[in-house]
Amino acid sequence: MRVRLDQLVISALQQGSAVPAFTCYDFTTALAVVGAAEAAGRGVILLVSPSTAATRNGLRLIAALRGLADGAGVPVAVQLDHASKLRVIADAVSAGADSVLVDGSSLDYEDNIALVRAAGAVLDVLASGGSGAGSEIVIEAELGGLAGDEDRAFGSGAAGHAPAAGFTDSAQVEDFVARSGAQLLAVAVGNVHGRYKGEPELRWDVLQDIAVRTRIPLVLHGASGIPAAELVKAAAMNVGKVNFNTELRTGVLETLEACTAAHRTDGENLQGLLADWDASAGTFAAAALATLSR
Ligand code: 13P
Repeated sequence: MRVRLDQLVISALQQGSAVPAFTCYDFTTALAVVGAAEAAGRGVILLVSPSTAATRNGLRLIAALRGLADGAGVPVAVQLDHASKLRVIADAVSAGADSVLVDGSSLDYEDNIALVRAAGAVLDVLASGGSGAGSEIVIEAELGGLAGDEDRAFGSGAAGHAPAAGFTDSAQVEDFVARSGAQLLAVAVGNVHGRYKGEPELRWDVLQDIAVRTRIPLVLHGASGIPAAELVKAAAMNVGKVNFNTELRTGVLETLEACTAAHRTDGENLQGLLADWDASAGTFAAAALATLSR
């Protein structure tokens, strides 16, 4: 069922839980994630990479995810992840995304704020148009930068060291939230996209310092590789959304590698392969939902 992403996250936080968000490059994975959320009776977020949304088929995938989300038995939001191009934001929202991470984290502080505000203005224009797209769209912004690649898992962020772009500066949080108009804030506290070099060492002290500066929910990207025992602490620090991608991909690719030959032998059984894919993605999503739910 349709839900505003910020309301989904805030109501989870009120119960001491966080909502997992999973990158979906395809419909099979999205079906598995939504199935796991329905089985758990929990809301979930489907993420679409900006590299997906920049293509015609990617926009068709967003439209398909919109239909899947609306027809689901639990609240499901569809978010365009890490977008920095206004054209891609407008296209993705027109296709059916209901929230956007407007990612100006690689920009100077003022330019980051300006990008988030510009995206808000684009959404206002869309909302005033005939289609109604753009209204009720939730904006997440990112302050501080994460090392690593969003679509490819190469090791980064040596444990214990700040990623190149730096931790979120807690002193900027209040001003950034007020001036950008963001409804959720993604933070950099030692988390990285892709694989961690060595053990992840999240700076909970920095997160705590950020959490007391704003009332809007915080978002933890780069959750792959962070032990469940660490992730369970997040909601207590107002982290209401936790993003997973790499671990989900790893599991699906390992499964496909292990099962493909048997399905070929079994009469080129593509349905059988898709069932294994579904099981892999669904098991991962179910585990993340259980970890983050109180
Ligand atoms: P990981 O690939 O490290 O899980 O990060 C996912 C993410 O943050 C998507 O925005």
